[in-house]
Amino acid sequence: MKKGKDKPGKYAESVIKRGLEKAESEGRSVRLLFVCLGNICRSPAAQGVMEKMAMERGIAVECDSAGFYGGHAGDLPDSRMRHAATARGYDLQHRSRKIHEYDLDAFDVIFGMDDSNMSDLHWLAQTKEQEDKLVKMSDFAVAFPSQDSVPDPYYGGVSGFEFVLDLLEDACGEILGLLK
Ligand code: 4NP
Repeated sequence: MKKGKDKPGKYAESVIKRGLEKAESEGRSVRLLFVCLGNICRSPAAQGVMEKMAMERGIAVECDSAGFYGGHAGDLPDSRMRHAATARGYDLQHRSRKIHEYDLDAFDVIFGMDDSNMSDLHWLAQTKEQEDKLVKMSDFAVAFPSQDSVPDPYYGGVSGFEFVLDLLEDACGEILGLLK
């Protein structure tokens, strides 16, 4: 597939570089937080994909995920997402949790899956430093140049879960390229 000319873009690249520099200056691995609404479909999948791809490439990262809707707190990822992820070799064991304000200090880069997640993250951010950590996951999906979100698969069919994983694998590969 053709690589998108406009992705990831200067801003998205700068968020990753800034996060990496902060982690390096503190002598630790970069900490990445993936955020969606329920924290049972997209963001735990993003976490699982990133953890596996980073390990395979020998790149040290610390990953977690969270959501804005706390109604699934404590739950494993949605069974449809686990099924689709398992078929690609990802074992999703994250337990859903609600995002907290302190997550914006604890992590170096914070990825929202869609515009609604991004506006909620910007609402949560209290400082410029926190604002500067926020970036949309689809900005790194270079093989999908016109895709401007990782769409919520919850109310759709199996193909939606596969499409989410396609986008996440593409985006994680690009992010890891920037973290090398
Ligand atoms: P996610 O999907 O944000 O990708 O985890 C959703 C899961 C659950 C709900 C909405 C979205 N829900 O409303 O319960």
